[in-house]
Amino acid sequence: PFMDALSLKKMVAKAALEYVQPGTVLGVGTGSTVDCFIDALAESGIQLKGAVSSSVRSEKKLREIGVPIVDMNDVESLSVYVDGADEVDPVNCLIKGGGGANTREKIVADISEKFVCIADQSKLVQVLGAFPLPVEVLPMARNAIARKLTALGGHVRLREGFTTDNGNAILDVSGLKITDPVAMEKVINHWPGVVTNGLFAIRRADVVLIATADGIKTL
Ligand code: A5P
Repeated sequence: PFMDALSLKKMVAKAALEYVQPGTVLGVGTGSTVDCFIDALAESGIQLKGAVSSSVRSEKKLREIGVPIVDMNDVESLSVYVDGADEVDPVNCLIKGGGGANTREKIVADISEKFVCIADQSKLVQVLGAFPLPVEVLPMARNAIARKLTALGGHVRLREGFTTDNGNAILDVSGLKITDPVAMEKVINHWPGVVTNGLFAIRRADVVLIATADGIKTL
């Protein structure tokens, strides 16, 4: 059976509802799959106490469906965080940040007990790196960090005309074969001027729900 990308996203968004605990503060990520999740949440009628969100875009959408936005400084932890990914490897390591929200996503993921990643089958890869790795950098360090990324073997492009929710720039790095995602995440994050990179390997997903034409696969 064939299913188009939007139908797959809707399907996996619905499957994630099973992990949502009514009456709690939920962590909510960013992207087109998460947009489907927020729609599914609205349809489900599940009442939340609120949500901590990783982007201005998702906050707006959550408010529209009546979910109060909670400041992350006012919660100690979140039991569940639902977010998408750009790539998923066989051991639940991810590349995120295609939407440029990877720093906030990493912060929210870090305080969450369970990170539920939702994606369609097109995101599954054996080795991360076919999707360009987003690296958020302070504007003054843009070229210095680009040179270091080039030395790692990457092909670096500045995301033109784009500023993150934190006022920074994104470098998209293609051509990296990321066989050791934990090591690469650490190396890049140690360079002064890097805010975060889009590898989610040290804190990876706890559950990955993959939509396929044959149904949901749980990794
Ligand atoms: C946002 O910065 C990203 O990390 C998203 O989670 C990722 O790009 C997935 O987006 P889609 O659901 O639109 O593919």
